[in-house]
Amino acid sequence: MIEKVNEAVDFIKRLHSEKPQVGIVLGSGLGHFTNEIKVEKEILYKEIPHFPVSTVEGHSGKLVFGTIGDKSVVAMAGRFHNYEGYTAQEIVFPIRVMKYLGIENLLLSNAAGGVNPDFKVGDLMLINDHVSQFVPNPLIGKNDNEVGPRFPDMYEPYNKELIQRAKNISKANGINCKEGVYISVTGPTFETKAEYRMIRAIGGDAVGMSTVQEVIVAVHMNLPCFAVSVITDMWVDGHELTVSHEEVLKAAKEAEPKLTCIFKELIASL
Ligand code: HPA
Repeated sequence: MIEKVNEAVDFIKRLHSEKPQVGIVLGSGLGHFTNEIKVEKEILYKEIPHFPVSTVEGHSGKLVFGTIGDKSVVAMAGRFHNYEGYTAQEIVFPIRVMKYLGIENLLLSNAAGGVNPDFKVGDLMLINDHVSQFVPNPLIGKNDNEVGPRFPDMYEPYNKELIQRAKNISKANGINCKEGVYISVTGPTFETKAEYRMIRAIGGDAVGMSTVQEVIVAVHMNLPCFAVSVITDMWVDGHELTVSHEEVLKAAKEAEPKLTCIFKELIASL
């Protein structure tokens, strides 16, 4: 695995030698954040050795290198999901590559369904914990002790200091930010009523089809993570609910400016 990562890293460094400080992963309908980057170089996933290629609508499939303020960043415009048929190892490959390119912090966003009755569509939720048990763990298989430990500690996968800074940024900018637990599922089906009820019952505040596998390998590599869900649909017990991909993309687009503000100021603070 690490040889493949190194080949991808060497290829990228030949095209763009600047070391990125921050890695950014953008969720469904949330790709416009790349407009904030003073772009120095874009590399299509399909050009990079061993990189999977993104297929889902709303994801364009490239690494965007550049600066935001005085920080050098690399953003994944488009990520990989279980429901597309990628293995957990494929899904996390770009995270490993960004780590070996030199990033010191990883920021992620996603679109998620809210199951906490205090939430509403369009809210942002700072992820403070997750349940990963419904998706394949990307660390299953032989462990490379050079990369990280066999049994990584998952006591605090989301960096507390970054969450606190994001809360301060939200407050200063009049953004009403929620905080909570993200439950990951494979999709592509949205949840049945019984599944939403289960997700709430096991301590979830939001449910989605991404992020936790990426965070697991980041934590394994000792890379601090910060992640935000945009609540694009809501399940509340006893209420009728329908959800479609179009609604998810629409709600994500409307909430995007709030997320952009938080990411930008958080990056400036690093
Ligand atoms: N469930 C799972 N994934 C999602 C949802 C949802 O309700 N909304 C956006 N992504």
